[in-house]
Amino acid sequence: MKCYELQGPGGIDALALVDKPVPRPGAGEVLVRLTAASLNYRDLLTVRGGYGSRQKFPLVPSSDGAGVVEAVGEGVAFVPGDRVIGSFFESWTGGEPSEAKMRAALGGAVDGTLSEYRIFPAQALVRTPAHLTDIEAATLPCAGVTAWSAVIKLGGIRPGQTVLTQGTGGVSIFALQIARMAGACVIATSSSETKIARLISLGADVTLNYKTTPDWGKKAREITGQGVDLVVEVGGVGTLNESIRATKIGGTIAFIGVLAGAPASELRLPLMVMQQQRLQGVTVGSVDDLQALANALALHQVKPVVDRVFPFAEARDAFHYMASGAHLGKVAIAIG
Ligand SMILES: NC(=O)c1ccc[n+]([C@@H]2O[C@H](COP(=O)([O-])OP(=O)(O)OC[C@H]3O[C@@H](n4cnc5c(N)ncnc54)[C@H](OP(=O)(O)O)[C@@H]3O)[C@@H](O)[C@H]2O)c1
Repeated sequence: MKCYELQGPGGIDALALVDKPVPRPGAGEVLVRLTAASLNYRDLLTVRGGYGSRQKFPLVPSSDGAGVVEAVGEGVAFVPGDRVIGSFFESWTGGEPSEAKMRAALGGAVDGTLSEYRIFPAQALVRTPAHLTDIEAATLPCAGVTAWSAVIKLGGIRPGQTVLTQGTGGVSIFALQIARMAGACVIATSSSETKIARLISLGADVTLNYKTTPDWGKKAREITGQGVDLVVEVGGVGTLNESIRATKIGGTIAFIGVLAGAPASELRLPLMVMQQQRLQGVTVGSVDDLQALANALALHQVKPVVDRVFPFAEARDAFHYMASGAHLGKVAIAIG
């Protein structure tokens, strides 16, 4: 089988396409013929120079994959031909997170999905909803589940509440779709007028250009009167001040990403204290969360937004495209 390997922190063009034997599933395991993978900003950080101390070399990158069951070991409920999606964490099947449950993240501590075949523990697989293609299904494990955790599981968003999303990357577009499914209003930001037109077609109630409106947080507060219930914070320290301004008293900032850097010393933390806001860290989610997201998408017949699909042979170009920031939603790779 062919797979991509990161043999050291050498950058996108150092990704090596290598040949390996197809593994055989043991008891409780499933051999999946992967037909699709998708990229996340984290994968870019990984290939560019290391992502956390748990990253191993050589490493098959990418946490997200979907495909078809090829063979199963003993004691597995799946059968060959089943369409499945792999979870970001193999051991976090449900419940509260713990260090043990979060140890094995695909494309980080263990090999990921840029591979023609991969063994999964059966407990880490979810059946692909019938209305999704494998490419669409492969966008769920990281960005989709993170957005689900931020908006529903930890954000507790209810109909009529307001969610603010930042930019048009994978997590934010999923957050917009999930918030709309939950009956919430969405204020969505972007740096691009072309992308803003897409945000409106995807259901954003209000859009703000964060480049031409640098005080977008203040604006969001003015528009809502009291502030938003939840900010899906993908920018990090560089956007947090405006997020604090945008958030209502008692509201939540779901802290997810690090796309915008800025000195931490300039943070408006006293304002956050005075407004009794909640800063909620989010780390993807469990297999149960992936299942809940798949169920919700199936119920509402909502499809993930896939910007562009690259052939497996051009996986490095997919990384370069992701790095350009031109995409809206997800960048995917068709395998095989
Ligand atoms: N904690 C977790 O569990 C978790 C899980 C997934 C991802 N993440 C993190 O979440 C972040 C987003 O990941 P992703 O995969 O969705 O990224 P992505 O698809 O690469 O998102 C790129 C988009 O983010 C927007 N953006 C960039 N800088 C921005 C800024 N200063 N303010 C607002 N928007 C900005 C841009 O949108 P426009 O072009 O529209 O301006 C850009 O196109 C990353 O930092 C990633 O590491 C964390």
